[in-house]
Amino acid sequence: MCLQRMSTEDSTTAIGIRRPSRYNRGMFHASELVRQLAGLRFGHPVQVFQQIGSTNDHAKRLAEGGAPEGLLVLAEEQTAGRGRMNRHWLTPPGTALALSLILRPTLPAAQLSRLTLLAGVAACEAIEQTTTVRAELKWPNDILLSGKKAGGILVEGAFNGEALDYAVLGLGLNVSWSPEAVDFPATNVQAECGQTIDRAQLLRALLTRLETWAAALTAPALFEAWRARLVWLGQPIVIHTPEGELPGQAEDVDDDGALRVRLASGEMRRVLAGDVHLRPARG
Ligand code: BTN
Repeated sequence: MCLQRMSTEDSTTAIGIRRPSRYNRGMFHASELVRQLAGLRFGHPVQVFQQIGSTNDHAKRLAEGGAPEGLLVLAEEQTAGRGRMNRHWLTPPGTALALSLILRPTLPAAQLSRLTLLAGVAACEAIEQTTTVRAELKWPNDILLSGKKAGGILVEGAFNGEALDYAVLGLGLNVSWSPEAVDFPATNVQAECGQTIDRAQLLRALLTRLETWAAALTAPALFEAWRARLVWLGQPIVIHTPEGELPGQAEDVDDDGALRVRLASGEMRRVLAGDVHLRPARG
C-alpha cells in the first residue's frame, strides 16, 4: 500500500511519518494506518491530516487532479467540515471518523444517490461488526444509534454529461464525542456501546464493507439492505422544506433513493434529498 506525503496547503498539517515517540496514543498515524489497511482496495493511498478544513473539499481537489479511486482522506480535526445543505459539521480532534473517499464508478449521473445508500449500509454494518449496538439510517443520509444521530454522509459528484466522472464519499461518524443537540438528538458510538472504540479497526471494517457493496452498487440487494435499516417508514412524519412544513406519512422509498410521502391532503409526493429535513410527527 502506498503512502502519500501530505501537502501543507490550506494550513493542513500532516501527521509525522517516522517519529513514533511523538504520536498520541489513539491518534491516527499515516504509516501505521497503511499497515492497518493492508490488503484493502479502498484506503489506498491514504492521506492523514491532523487538521484540515474539510476532507471533502480536499478530496475533490485531488479528484479534479486525477487522483485514483480508493484514495482516502482522513482527518483528526476539521475546521470547516460540511454537512448536507451546507451545515457545519464539527470534528474536534481525535473524536471521530472524518473521511472522504474518492470513487470513480461507472454510473449514470442520475444514480449518484446509490453512493449514499452504499455509505449508509457500509457504515451500519461496520458499526455492528465492531460493537454491540444496532445501527439504523434516517432518510436521506443520517446514521442513527438508539434513535440519535451519530453520523452523516455527504456524497458529492462531478459529471461528464450524463455520466459520473468521480464522486467523493464523505462520512463523519462521532466516535467519542457528540455535539449538543440542535434540532435532533446526537450521540456517539462509545456512548451507545459503553466500550472504547479502536477507530482504526472501525475504519477497516467500514472500508471493507464499502468495497464489498461497491461491487453491487446498482444491485437490488444494496437498495434492500438500505431500505431495511431506514427508520420511520410507515410512520407519520413532517417534511421541513424551504416553503414550510408538510405533514404526511413516510410510505416507502424508491430505488433512486427518493422518499414517497403520502401528504395529509392525500397527495403522494416523491421527495428528493435536496432541501428537506424529516422529523417524526409529534402525536
Ligand atoms: C450530514 O449529516 O449532513 C453529513 C455530514 C458529513 C460530514 C463529513 S465529515 C467528513 C466529510 N468532510 C466534510 O466536510 N463533510 C463530510
